[in-house]
Amino acid sequence: MIGKNLEKARELLRAGALVALPTETVYGLAANALDIEAVLKIFEVKQRPTFDPLIVHLSGVDQLAYYANSIPEKAQILAEKFWPGPLTLVLPKKQIIPDLVSSGLDTVALRVPRQALTLELLQSLDFPLAAPSANPFGYISPTRPQHVADQLGDVVPYILDGGPSEIGLESTILSLEGDQAKVLRFGGLSVEALEKAIGTLTIQQYSSSRPQAPGMLSSHYAPRKPLQIIRDRAELPVNKAKLGALFFSEKDEHLPDEHQFILSSNRDIKEAARRLFAGLRYLDSLEIEGIYAEVVPDEGLGRAINDRLKRAAH
Ligand code: TXA
Ligand code: MG
Repeated sequence: MIGKNLEKARELLRAGALVALPTETVYGLAANALDIEAVLKIFEVKQRPTFDPLIVHLSGVDQLAYYANSIPEKAQILAEKFWPGPLTLVLPKKQIIPDLVSSGLDTVALRVPRQALTLELLQSLDFPLAAPSANPFGYISPTRPQHVADQLGDVVPYILDGGPSEIGLESTILSLEGDQAKVLRFGGLSVEALEKAIGTLTIQQYSSSRPQAPGMLSSHYAPRKPLQIIRDRAELPVNKAKLGALFFSEKDEHLPDEHQFILSSNRDIKEAARRLFAGLRYLDSLEIEGIYAEVVPDEGLGRAINDRLKRAAH
């Protein structure tokens, strides 16, 4: 059921049930992070392997010290500057975080989401919320309540409706063990903005064999239809009747109109990010054989968009 009833969401979470929540990045599937039984339901519903740790959502920067065992100076700076917002910090964890949440790692991923309803909810609870994106494991993340209802509507008791996600891409994940700052996942906060705040970062290349963050698995965020990346329209097959395409800003006259999805006709990268997952879902729903996706300019949020396309293509 989709609705705007905060009280209902609160009661369900207090009772150990799951609630799908809006955030500025994507919709999350939330449970009391300190309740192992509740967290187990997340893994069941998503069919997510338990070696893939969850992000813990906090109500504010002041909560950091309850869950992080040590807070390097850079972490404090970033939290104060970018929270609430699309940045997840991976820090040494305190005992209170169950091993199930962190998949047995001695670190925990923490963030404060920037969405009014969800923040109000978090502020009224006396526990933080573990929440992965509210999609079946490996599929495209949801950016609208209906996306959650389409796939998990039967198994999630309540979907809190906060409208379409403002950013549309998952948070940027930064690991800050010791003094080393490493980007584990490109996302809604640009690397440029992070580097402006704390200096040059290391980018951790993803691997399919031993992911540090399974969101870094080379195959993830994927539609069911095969997806291929193109850099130039000349790479499109000659026979275009049975294909769909995700274009950055301009339609292609050789393709049926309804088989094309334009991310942003005025080349606005934020708009493109916001529309990316809805576009992939739309194309995935068509009677076509495959999807072709055009890369976007590789800077700012464009890096995160291209990263998601690459993984969707694997
Ligand atoms: O924007 C977001 O981050 C959304 C919203 C709901 O907050 N959440 C999200 O969660 O994208 P999820 O579970 O789909 O992706 C979280 C990623 C996973 O790939 C996981 O491996 C990584 O965070 N992660 C969690 N804890 C970690 C840790 N201790 N060390 C390294 N990576 C971690
Ligand atoms: Mg996810």
